[in-house]
Amino acid sequence: MLYEGLVYGAAYAIPTFFATSPKRVDPEWIWHFCTCDRTAIEQGFVDHWPPAPFRRRIIKGFLDQTHAEGIEYHYDVSNAFYALFLDRDYMFYTCADFNAPTDTIEDAQRNKANHILGLLDPRPGEKIIELGCGWGGMLKHISAAIGDGSNLSGLTLSRDQVDYIRTHLGFSVALADLITHDYGTETYDKIYAIGALEHVRPDSILPLFQRLHAALKPGGRMVQHFFSLNGTDPVPPSMLGAQAYFPGSILSLHSDIRAKAERAGFRIAHDSAHDYRPTLRAWFDRLVENRDQAEALVGHHVVNKYFVYFAMSWRFFDLKQSTLHRLVLMKD
Ligand SMILES: C[S@@+](CC[C@H](N)C(=O)[O-])C[C@H]1O[C@@H](n2cnc3c(N)ncnc32)[C@H](O)[C@@H]1O
Repeated sequence: MLYEGLVYGAAYAIPTFFATSPKRVDPEWIWHFCTCDRTAIEQGFVDHWPPAPFRRRIIKGFLDQTHAEGIEYHYDVSNAFYALFLDRDYMFYTCADFNAPTDTIEDAQRNKANHILGLLDPRPGEKIIELGCGWGGMLKHISAAIGDGSNLSGLTLSRDQVDYIRTHLGFSVALADLITHDYGTETYDKIYAIGALEHVRPDSILPLFQRLHAALKPGGRMVQHFFSLNGTDPVPPSMLGAQAYFPGSILSLHSDIRAKAERAGFRIAHDSAHDYRPTLRAWFDRLVENRDQAEALVGHHVVNKYFVYFAMSWRFFDLKQSTLHRLVLMKD
């Protein structure tokens, strides 16, 4: 951990250490270790090491890896493993809306799905595509709301997710890269993504937004739910930590995403901020409950790594280094 901490920084060294440790971590200990307040010296190291020029060089090495491999690496752990900590109704792997203190993860994911449904405002007969559709939860929710799923489709880079959707839900889903996919011209009434823009590198955002703007019919809209970086540093040390989980992915600054959406021709009609922390704690707690089954499926290294992931991500949002946003982008 010391060596990797010195070369890559604490955010990368900690998950890597626990993912290779021969020991099972104690969940409450790891939660506290990752989320507790640090001394000024420790926090200074976490926030500033490695220095910016080294960070840029190291990140460049990670970004040379193909993006698609990084996505498969993260999502193709096993559907059964994700089912052990995600909500049971939708299997959403994205931030939920805990509107009341008594909300379960199932309630909170339904609240989120309803909020996005309101933003998207789907109508029967409209052609709608989800970019990065996960296990198809939102496609299922829209189809139930409008009473028809025949014009709905999705894209994902995970083979396991494609198999799951085709077998269990029957929507039209393609194993395709949303960044390079041919969307055509004026093809869709609505486009949306829940937790996929995080996987699009900053230099691909503007060309993607331009092609998605062209793919919408006049009067169409796009809903984007994603988290982005606050502040002005495009390569903070947390982005090295992200490489331990999503090799080849790097977040954008929120101000850049808004500016690129407008440059692509969209009008920003809505931008709301949401709290990711309760969702991360709910996934953590459920993984603790189902730990034995999870370890039997994927081994204790992977389970250790996810405990650290949820706790470190909680801290990332708690420090306001990042915020979850929902944007509605209109093609007027
Ligand atoms: C965080 S998950 C969210 C899934 C789902 N929307 C949800 O709310 O649970 C991100 C999804 O985006 C997909 N994804 C990421 N990058 C992609 C790319 N370049 N092309 C296609 N799908 C991608 C992943 O395969 C995964 O399905």
